[in-house]
Amino acid sequence: MTLKLRGIEACVFDAYGTLFDVNSAARAAQNSLGEKWQPLAELWRSKQLQYTWLRGLSGHHADFWQVTGDALDFALSTLHLDDPPLRARLMNLYLTLDAYPEVPDTLKRLKAAGMKLAILSNGTPAMLAAAAASAGIGELFDEILSVEEVKVYKPHPSVYGLACKRLRVAPPAVCFVSSNGWDAYSAKAFGFHTLWCNRFNQAPERIPETPDAQITTLAEVPDIVILQK
Ligand code: LAC
Repeated sequence: MTLKLRGIEACVFDAYGTLFDVNSAARAAQNSLGEKWQPLAELWRSKQLQYTWLRGLSGHHADFWQVTGDALDFALSTLHLDDPPLRARLMNLYLTLDAYPEVPDTLKRLKAAGMKLAILSNGTPAMLAAAAASAGIGELFDEILSVEEVKVYKPHPSVYGLACKRLRVAPPAVCFVSSNGWDAYSAKAFGFHTLWCNRFNQAPERIPETPDAQITTLAEVPDIVILQK
């Protein structure tokens, strides 16, 4: 039986990895990176997330553009790819990441059913606005929310709390969707209903608390949260 979540008023989406394919930047620069594009994409992403957590724990916040650039510098240097024009090109590509193919239709179905829609992301307002506009989905959201309003990264509870405050909904009325397992688990621990879009069949996390369900693409979200009369 398909899972149904009742009482959902808002669908809140993580951005990077969930709506936008973070690997698409390095993939688009394959002509310069050759077979190193994939190791670069993986190291860039994992270091980027590590830096968000390290900055949160140490109390030295810097915005996601800075952290993304720092992580890229680490990855380029590790793979002996130091090259300022290549760095600039990759950073630019991060502003126009591909959206996953099911994203526009999924958002339109949810909106047509009266759901409030939001992005809740580590990204800066400028990064999120650029990526959403480039994917042609910016107009579909009621709110595009950045951790820059609270100056600490996910999974700090104040980030998830920001969505409740700005959308004026209680945590259980939110369906939070993330492809980052740790984000879906942590949002569930905050009190949201959550769906983990486990695109790459990753193993379950071992942190509090377990998402309501795993899905493999965002196209599954509308049938879970829209109640048929
Ligand atoms: C974000 C990161 C977690 O968009 O992907 O917040």
